[in-house]
Amino acid sequence: MANAWKREKSSPLLLSLRGLLLLLLPLSLLIVLLLRPFLPPTPHQNPNPSSTLRPQTLTIPLSPGLPLRPFECSTCPQASPVFAARVEGLRHPFLYSLADFGSLPDKPHKNIARMLKGKPFRRPDISATIQDILDGSKPADGIVVDIGANVGMAAFAAAAMGFRVVAFEPVFENLQRICDGVFLNRVWDRVMVFEAAASDRIGNITFHKVVGRLDNSAISEIGAKLVFKSNEEIPVEVRTIPLDEVILESERVLLIKIDVQGWEYHVIQGAKKLLSRKKGEAPYLIYEEDERLLRASNSSAKKIRDFLRSVGYNNCTQHGTDAHCTKM
Ligand SMILES: *[C@@H]1O[C@H](CO)[C@@H](O)[C@H](O)[C@H]1NC(C)=O
Ligand SMILES: *[C@@H]1O[C@H](CO)[C@@H](O)[C@H](O)[C@H]1NC(C)=O
Ligand SMILES: *[C@@H]1O[C@H](CO)[C@@H](O)[C@H](O)[C@H]1NC(C)=O
Repeated sequence: MANAWKREKSSPLLLSLRGLLLLLLPLSLLIVLLLRPFLPPTPHQNPNPSSTLRPQTLTIPLSPGLPLRPFECSTCPQASPVFAARVEGLRHPFLYSLADFGSLPDKPHKNIARMLKGKPFRRPDISATIQDILDGSKPADGIVVDIGANVGMAAFAAAAMGFRVVAFEPVFENLQRICDGVFLNRVWDRVMVFEAAASDRIGNITFHKVVGRLDNSAISEIGAKLVFKSNEEIPVEVRTIPLDEVILESERVLLIKIDVQGWEYHVIQGAKKLLSRKKGEAPYLIYEEDERLLRASNSSAKKIRDFLRSVGYNNCTQHGTDAHCTKM
């Protein structure tokens, strides 16, 4: 990804702007860090400031036989350049570190372009949706599961409200951005992420990364090529794990968001026990329902709806490209 930046001949202005940014960011961080002991506590400060980058949370119990450990942000190499900013326009704003989409100066991602102009990050729709749904619940009521977490727009929206989150993301570059978000939002006590694709079995699968558009990466090669046809696509081996292997039966789950570029049916199959929980205990389900992507993974919207109905999800409604399902 970082190479995409280097290949472009930047204009002198952008170069110096970038150089300045790269220089100022660590410099200001250093100043803040040095001054920190002398600064008065701010109202929203982490109540436990001495807990420097602790190993990841133990607040979400895992099944003892789990063949996979959570991803260790404390030992993950830092990505660069980092483009992170506060996402405004939400009841509970948060920071997210943007994947390095596209290249400068031709076509930087719209959020990078906005930042270079000093404008706030555009609010991802899913973040507002997540916060609306969780609005009536308390963090102690249950956890949130984010499958296909990308850079964490759903996970951090929930974590910013105090909810504990279990996230799944197989793309390493996205995991680096999630780790940025974990540190920037100081939510290492409530966000746990797995370097894996949620699926219907434990194993490995070939996953297709879409260079420059990592958010479109997919298990299906056809699916990965659907939108950004000319982008290079790299096959990588990733681990798969069913949700039912990760989430303990005793753990209440309030909300599951699935956005996995066509692999939704397989994720849902692997969460059969969880989704079969009775009304009032079953999670609110959001999943992307893109017929072309689903077909590229040998499934369909109908197959998903039929399965969901069979486990009691009888109230599904369409919200843009997402389906929202509950039991009534
Ligand atoms: C599965 O993939 C992981 C990398 O994601 C690799 O470390 C592991 O060796 C693979 N296991 C098998 C059985 O291929
Ligand atoms: C879909 O099914 C075909 C034929 O069985 C198979 O070759 C292909 O790998 C499957 N695609 C996915 C994404 O599983
Ligand atoms: C059906 O689902 C929608 C959300 O998609 C929710 O607002 C509504 O309350 C649900 N209806 C019942 C009767 O549970």
